Amino acid sequence: MRIDIITCLPGLLVGPFDQSILKIAKEKGLAEVNVHDLRIYTNNKHKNVDDYAYGGGAGMVLTIEPIDRAISHLKSERDYDEVIYMTPDGKKLNQNTSNELSLKGNIIILCGHYKGVDQRVRDHLITREISIGDYVLSGGELAAAVLADSIIRIIPGVINNESSALTDSFQDNLLAPPVYSRPAEYKGWKVPEILTSGHEKKIEDWRFNKALEHTKKNRPDLLD
Ligand code: ADE
Repeated sequence: MRIDIITCLPGLLVGPFDQSILKIAKEKGLAEVNVHDLRIYTNNKHKNVDDYAYGGGAGMVLTIEPIDRAISHLKSERDYDEVIYMTPDGKKLNQNTSNELSLKGNIIILCGHYKGVDQRVRDHLITREISIGDYVLSGGELAAAVLADSIIRIIPGVINNESSALTDSFQDNLLAPPVYSRPAEYKGWKVPEILTSGHEKKIEDWRFNKALEHTKKNRPDLLD
């Protein structure tokens, strides 16, 4: 899979894709993330990517021209399955969406800024609008990094133990059960005995019940 991120602040995306699982995905040739500076696609000498909003009001708007040029340039090199715009008024990201997107080939992610982008970008160039939650960030970059991470980590082969991604929170609409590791007792705090019993079926039932209990307490909406 290939993800191309278009942004006017590429510096915000230096780093996240060169660490840990995302780095492994790249080294294994399973996923590649490329960050593109929107300013390269301007043709004014100040490299401005924003302008005032027609009709007045506070805040600048990302203009359509450099965005259209950036997307057209990428599309001239390969086909894309989705052109996603990160925005707090998009559809809220969940595990189902990440699962679905992890099966795609090539994706463009456009990061918003200021008051957002010219609506014509959204009407004509974007296939999907995604929010990572009901709060406003100063731009779409961190949201794009969250989206890319959630997609790439579940591409088959990225995580060694594939079942590990399948037992994450949300994969079956349940939060994950608690996990423990050595030592079996620390400062008098003990690991639940069942987990050291070796009874696979009992452990599985215990984990399911704990996941259910945890979900009822923290996220009852997932059980509706
Ligand atoms: N840009 C600013 N806030 C955002 C959010 N919550 N989700 C996606 N993109 C954003």
